Amino acid sequence: MADPFTLGVASGEPLPDGVMLWTRLAADPLSADPSRPGGMAPRAVEVSWQLAEDENFTRGLRQGVTEAQPAWAHSVHVRVAGLKPGTDYYYRFRASGAQSPVGRTRTADDPASTRPVRFALANCQRYEHGFYTAYRHLADERPDVVFHVGDYIYESRQAPSVARPLGTLPGEANTLAEYRLRYARYKSDPDLRAAHAAAPWVPTWDDHEVADNYRGTGDGSAAFQRRRAAAYQAYFENQPIRVRPRGGGLQMFRRRTYGTVADFLVLDVRQHRGAGTMLGAAQEEWLISRLVTGRVRWRVLVQPLFFARRFVPGPAPNLRTDSWDGHQEQRARILAAGAPGLVVLSGDVHNAWAGELKADFLDPGSATVGVEFVASAISSRPPATDGPAVLAANPHLRFFDGHRGYLSGTAGPDELRVAFRAIDHVDRPGAPVTTVAEFRTVGEGLTSENATSK
Ligand SMILES: [Fe+2]
Repeated sequence: MADPFTLGVASGEPLPDGVMLWTRLAADPLSADPSRPGGMAPRAVEVSWQLAEDENFTRGLRQGVTEAQPAWAHSVHVRVAGLKPGTDYYYRFRASGAQSPVGRTRTADDPASTRPVRFALANCQRYEHGFYTAYRHLADERPDVVFHVGDYIYESRQAPSVARPLGTLPGEANTLAEYRLRYARYKSDPDLRAAHAAAPWVPTWDDHEVADNYRGTGDGSAAFQRRRAAAYQAYFENQPIRVRPRGGGLQMFRRRTYGTVADFLVLDVRQHRGAGTMLGAAQEEWLISRLVTGRVRWRVLVQPLFFARRFVPGPAPNLRTDSWDGHQEQRARILAAGAPGLVVLSGDVHNAWAGELKADFLDPGSATVGVEFVASAISSRPPATDGPAVLAANPHLRFFDGHRGYLSGTAGPDELRVAFRAIDHVDRPGAPVTTVAEFRTVGEGLTSENATSK
């Protein structure tokens, strides 16, 4: 049998005592036969796994056997518990006589720990727009944890001009088979597989995992419900997450806590969205209660959409309704919670930004109540954006950069540092990485250091 580990390995959802291990068997990943996703026969396959503290799999070895089921596209989600906090582990799988690549993962820190946590933030990786070189550099950093804030795939039909073609994939994805193929194509990029194998991921989604700019249950039709359920299932099958989809939904919002240093509050800005609410009532209540009760230095919102007000001069619309500027009342309630050490990590706009969150965005003299860092895209093309004009119109926004890239940060007991990593080109592999700016937050505000912006 051909190598079934073509989609690589991954880990995720780090807790102080455990992680999820993931793989998905696909001997022929781009097989177009919908009854054999990944070219796998419709029967269960036995998969064994190992995890240890060293790459030779000798120290603290744990192992087990599970079954990859055809109903879940032969994906494997292994929940390993009983591990040491703040510790590196290595893992691998075996199936059908083949051995997977080795992945490196890491548990979250002990609840009492004050150790700084090193995180990365990535998003927006439209395959045909470019190579995932940024992920190669991210993988080299071996962060403690990688957050992904959506547009992991694009469901759209192939873009008119491409850096690399999607190949034989159908047009816009609508069915489970078509979404599965999209993930298989995206994971054919070795740099994406390297980033998964380098660190545990905590992903959330934006719109393109399902459909452009969708909200909640879309138009409410049975056809959209079926489409969303198919997309959510394919998402689960291809991510190292703990929770399975149920009844057409998937519980996404959650927190991942690192010692007394950081509470990462991972949001879902799509599934529960409705009239006048980005998050839905239950998620908002959960978020605000965590913001005011967690005893940590930094409360970090991990979510796709630009959070600060961003007025774009020129013809209307000047505020983006799909973003938090379209949900100003809910944003105001979150800011009014008065969370100390509030940090927002976001993406979506395919350019890099940094700014301060204000008690009143229309009054530059009002209190600074937090900071926001917006990661550029891994590969997706940016819209035409006049960065300097937008900065001038929004005094709380401090930084713009138009490269593709990702963020690399450290949250410690005294300060939070965020570096903007950038690459020059994605139309061919091999771009080196540079740091275009680095920011340091000590109070509620932002300090720029080592800014080497173009
Ligand atoms: Fe995007």
